[in-house]
Amino acid sequence: MALKVAVLGAGTMGHALALVYALGGHEVRLTDSSMAMLDKAGGLMETALASLVEAGEAPAGCTPDWLHHQVTRLPTLAETLEDADLIVEAIIENPDAKRALYAEVDRIAPMAAVIASNTSYLDPFPLIPERRQARSLIMHWYTPPYLVDLVDIVAGPTCEQAIVDWAAELVAAMGKVPLVMKTFVPGYIANRLQQALAAEVYRLIDEGVATAEEIDTAVVHGLALRIPIVAIMAKADFTGLPILQNALRNATYQPPPPRTDSPTLDRLIAEGRTGVMAGGGYYDWGKDTAKLFAARDRRLMALKKALREIGTMAGSTRQMD
Ligand SMILES: NC(=O)c1ccc[n+]([C@@H]2O[C@H](COP(=O)([O-])OP(=O)(O)OC[C@H]3O[C@@H](n4cnc5c(N)ncnc54)[C@H](O)[C@@H]3O)[C@@H](O)[C@H]2O)c1
Repeated sequence: MALKVAVLGAGTMGHALALVYALGGHEVRLTDSSMAMLDKAGGLMETALASLVEAGEAPAGCTPDWLHHQVTRLPTLAETLEDADLIVEAIIENPDAKRALYAEVDRIAPMAAVIASNTSYLDPFPLIPERRQARSLIMHWYTPPYLVDLVDIVAGPTCEQAIVDWAAELVAAMGKVPLVMKTFVPGYIANRLQQALAAEVYRLIDEGVATAEEIDTAVVHGLALRIPIVAIMAKADFTGLPILQNALRNATYQPPPPRTDSPTLDRLIAEGRTGVMAGGGYYDWGKDTAKLFAARDRRLMALKKALREIGTMAGSTRQMD
């Protein structure tokens, strides 16, 4: 059944989530406190949709006209929340901003609406008014959500099980992979693993052991190739568990100590090299951001297509032949 989905925040995640729900057949309303961002979101959704259609990952009928019919961009929260079944909160990761927004949502939104936060590390539940808790949960997507299939789902402390089941079914019906977690932990699973990698990367770079290029070479040609097929836990089985046990016992690897900064990262940011959007970060990228995103998306779609054919030997979609 088509839902009325209100997406709050039209930034990196919000505009892309609006597109995902539209592609899922839902009626989407999108808002942002920045009119410039709301305006920009239209073009970003169009570009992403064009890449999807070109790769055969979206129905050919999904034209820009279809998109503008399916996703209405609105300047006010009141218009966006009217009759909403599902409220997707995708605003900045700031507790004060989220708390203030939830208070407004509580004042305006239908009581039957489900509130789904896209928070990455912040626990949203203490910020959500008590009377909304039974219908509040986390639905955490990865960027770009129209290509990355994982959606972490976490119930709030008093969220009804039926709402969690509903959310998981909703996501699965859109061809995504829901992962219902037992409890909230900042970063869920995938982001926590990424943070562990990041901690090692800071050590290798800051101590001059490896360059950014060398780290990516090791990942692309070593770690990454097997990850979609055997991931981490199935790889452990293929390696043989005694090797892991010996590594632990011999303590030949020491994880990096906790840190709150990386001199290399701080220097790059101070130089204005904040990433692809700024034309450079660890690498030089140039100014054509849209082209870069399209190039990334094209490769991701080709990889997804190949992986669908190959199949995986790990995780909830494990295949044995
Ligand atoms: N960027 C990612 O890769 C990623 C992935 C998963 C989850 N998240 C999470 O999703 C949320 C959004 O992240 P993002 O990367 O899209 O951030 P972003 O900064 O790109 O976008 C946030 C948007 O929220 C808007 N905003 C701020 N206050 C608002 C308000 N009161 N009402 C309406 N709009 C408001 C801002 O103008 C901005 O456009 C965060 O909680 C983040 O942790 C991000």
